[in-house]
Amino acid sequence: MQDVTDASFWALVQERGGADVYWTEYTRVHACSRPAREIVESILNNQTGRPVVVQMMGNDPEALVRTARSLEALPVAAIELNLGCPAPVVYRKCAGGGLLRDPERLDKILGRLRDTVSLPLSLKTRLGFDSETHFDTLLAIYARHRPDLVVVHARTVLQGYRLPVRYDLIRRAVERLPCPVLANGHIQEPAQALSILAQTGARGCMIGRAAIRNPWIFQQIRRVQAGLPVYYPTGREVLRYIEQLWTAYATPGHPERLQTQRVKLFMNFLGEGLGPQAEQFLYFIRRVQTRLEFFDVCRRFLEHDEPLHLVPTAGKAVEAAPSAPSAQRFCENVLTGSPAP
Ligand SMILES: Cc1cc2nc3c(=O)[nH]c(=O)nc-3n(C[C@H](O)[C@H](O)[C@H](O)COP(=O)(O)O)c2cc1C
Repeated sequence: MQDVTDASFWALVQERGGADVYWTEYTRVHACSRPAREIVESILNNQTGRPVVVQMMGNDPEALVRTARSLEALPVAAIELNLGCPAPVVYRKCAGGGLLRDPERLDKILGRLRDTVSLPLSLKTRLGFDSETHFDTLLAIYARHRPDLVVVHARTVLQGYRLPVRYDLIRRAVERLPCPVLANGHIQEPAQALSILAQTGARGCMIGRAAIRNPWIFQQIRRVQAGLPVYYPTGREVLRYIEQLWTAYATPGHPERLQTQRVKLFMNFLGEGLGPQAEQFLYFIRRVQTRLEFFDVCRRFLEHDEPLHLVPTAGKAVEAAPSAPSAQRFCENVLTGSPAP
């Protein structure tokens, strides 16, 4: 996720149990681009011991091939093409989600990447641009180019982040693609993750915003898979996570207002998980301007030892299914690297 999933964030997640695999944000690719410096640094500074997938976004086949070749020199487990970014400034230029309405160009890009990339090739797709009507056509194009992994964010591009998420169509992707599929979209808690894995047959799930709100979520999923009770962090543990976010993201020397703004970005996600206090927390935290004010609000809401579920109140939980395949197996089978502990 842009401005979030860098080496510092991966380390904070890893400290709390960790994901099996980490993703970079996308690096924008065009005729004269180079891989973004911050992304390369994150890959080189990855302290998690887990594999990293690097993501590219662009629409120029030769520039994508050139970029993929230079990314292959880095310690990454796979190279991914973004086929889902919903930002109008991106899709109007026929990149990200915009490529889903240009199947010919998509076909050409995938052909060139498949011919030249020797590391595993991953695609992160939505269901279509403005409807899911052509999802089968997209799946046929993907299948023809034999990607090593496909991540399905089960919404259309124009849907943005609105519900519903069509998990049933992830199942379709699993049935039609000759490679593992990861389920993505609105996965908020462990029981729901397992239910979606069972429902879709996906090899694993990709978790975005819920990992910002609740970096314990990967550990929680593993515990539920193992039949153990879910571990919920206390208010003080969440406070500690926020202190670490401050240390990692409030650049020393920057004006305090900007430092505060940077860390407040994370609070927009985290605050939603504070149950009945979410609204009040977000009201106050969005108004703070200084470090003192920031931590004053955080302490007011989080200096306690009660467990927190860190799920948005409107979030819809679904029942757990006992026989869900392990997300960990995805990593063992698809990417290089040893199994997660
Ligand atoms: C702040 C933010 C930045 C994102 N940046 C990227 C990105 O760089 N590449 C990408 O494939 N998806 C990106 N996404 C989309 C997420 O990867 C994910 O597909 C989406 O949020 C749905 O999953 P979730 O409900 O688990 O968050 C971003 C999402 C957010 C909220």
